[in-house]
Amino acid sequence: MCGIVGYVGRANKAQEVILSGLERLEYRGYDSSGIAVLTNSKLECHKFKGKLSVLKDFLSNNTLNGNVGIGHTRWATHGNPTNENAHPHINEKNNIAIVHNGIIENYLELKQMLIENGYVFKSETDSEVIVYLFDMYYDENLLNTAFKVRELIRGTYAIVIIHNDQKEEFIAMRNEAPLVIGYGEKENFVASDITAILEYTKDISFLDNGEIAVVKKDSVVVYDKNKNMVEKEHTTINWSLEQATKCGYKHFMLKEIHEQPSDIRDTLNSRIDKSGLIKLDDIKLTESDIKKFNKIYIVACGTAFNAGCVGKYIIEKLSKIHVTCEIASEFRYQDPFVDENTLTIIVSQSGETADTLSALRLAKRKGSRILSITNVVDSSIARESDDVFYTWAGPEIAVASTKAYTTQLTAFYMIALNLGLYNKTLSINDYKQYIKLLMQTADVLQNMLENTDEEKQIANEIKDSTSIFYLGRLVDGQTAKEMALKLKEISYIFAESFVAGELKHGPIALIEKGTPVIALSTQKNMVEKMISNIQEVKARGAYVIGIGNEHDKALQDICQKFIKIPNIDDLFMPLVSVLPGQLIAYYVSDLKGYDVDKPRNLAKSVTVE
Ligand code: M6R
Repeated sequence: MCGIVGYVGRANKAQEVILSGLERLEYRGYDSSGIAVLTNSKLECHKFKGKLSVLKDFLSNNTLNGNVGIGHTRWATHGNPTNENAHPHINEKNNIAIVHNGIIENYLELKQMLIENGYVFKSETDSEVIVYLFDMYYDENLLNTAFKVRELIRGTYAIVIIHNDQKEEFIAMRNEAPLVIGYGEKENFVASDITAILEYTKDISFLDNGEIAVVKKDSVVVYDKNKNMVEKEHTTINWSLEQATKCGYKHFMLKEIHEQPSDIRDTLNSRIDKSGLIKLDDIKLTESDIKKFNKIYIVACGTAFNAGCVGKYIIEKLSKIHVTCEIASEFRYQDPFVDENTLTIIVSQSGETADTLSALRLAKRKGSRILSITNVVDSSIARESDDVFYTWAGPEIAVASTKAYTTQLTAFYMIALNLGLYNKTLSINDYKQYIKLLMQTADVLQNMLENTDEEKQIANEIKDSTSIFYLGRLVDGQTAKEMALKLKEISYIFAESFVAGELKHGPIALIEKGTPVIALSTQKNMVEKMISNIQEVKARGAYVIGIGNEHDKALQDICQKFIKIPNIDDLFMPLVSVLPGQLIAYYVSDLKGYDVDKPRNLAKSVTVE
């Protein structure tokens, strides 16, 4: 995830504060860094691909003396990690510099408009449009220019701007991406994360959506959406540095669970163009390529595999192309039915998983086109694929994957919708309607996160169990698999998912009095069947926790506990129904006092076979 630091204040202190702030943000992951400072003579900007140490080494021989500056660590989304794509971005006249976190959703239109006005783009980023907009609309008043730019850009952003004509201030603006102002003695700060400035001040306020702040060394003035001045409430931060890196959440896993709605929006929104169509910018597949494919393989490991299994359901439903989902460590030693008429979709959060990479190479040798879904730009899997769909989830630090999973599902919805449209299995009206519903699903997830008491209570009830069963049918069976994986990874309880209809063929023998069974039933056509399966396990003494549509009264009545999922289209249920499973796993692990973020025996990225 990108990081921002801004400083205005004491003579020649900008570089020191910015570098120390960026260092504090390193834990978030990044692939390039940069700084811009207003020195006596000019605006000086330096940025480098790679570790922050590259920037620091450079500055150790080229100190920037100035009292106003901005810095950035970039986690690549639009465009590879390169010097050009790193922030700050500066204009041709070299008097404006900006840093940006988030995604400018309408950057393609803005870029076109700016090109028509003579601007020449140097990077592949969406962020570069911001600096040219400031350049184009600058009227000697940076605040007025910011008001104008705010009207033009759409998306998620935390932006900080400096201008060489305004040597005593910087401007900060935000929408749906965090930005915190820090207040000091004859100096003020801004950062994307409190950690970056905690060393200098504990007196902070948070910018709200749509707000713009003019920050000088002895004043901070904040304007709301209507350009009215607002009084900001100050908060004194008593967090330790460790707590601060988690933004106040007890663990990274919980923080990442809560980031899911905005990460889904990031993955989704900037790929929807003005006419409401999905534009998969990094995927070069043409309509005739797609027509050629007679089957699709999805290959991955762990949670990415579980996302792939849901992906199979989504693609088959929307595009009617046959999909096989395989575990990479098995696939690589098979002789799979892959050829030039096969599309192989490789899924990997890290982009570095050894088994998945080998599977990719095997499919490629067999002539298949490779489309990867990954979270890490320029990772090995991204580099070796023909096409890449980047999930814009930011770095996932907890070993147990959560936000990578839901953004991978988002990727599958988007790919499947386009396959369906090209394959003519979806009408344009249905296609557009599904996009609308998909966008609304992120809000549903956000609402669900507002109250997690039910999951906490259930975690408390089941935490001492020795085994827990998860049941589901069809796509719910796949979600149940992911829920069980989450629980076993971090709580060390034996948890397994079963296709509910298979119970009577064996697994039901394991049910004893009090065995917790988590039964997931979100698909209208399967509710009656699930009710029968629940009755089977209840009759053997199981303690049944149901998760299902809030309107399914009969289902609700038969379960001892019930978590309600808002009534959305069945197709999009997997994107929200996994949440209770993630939360239950998290709370069980926490209640048992385990190291939630670093469970025993597991590594975040498995780069060995
Ligand atoms: O980086 P990848 O998505 O390729 O990783 C695959 C698995 O190792 C990963 O999903 C693992 O199962 C996680 N610990 C799940 O929470």
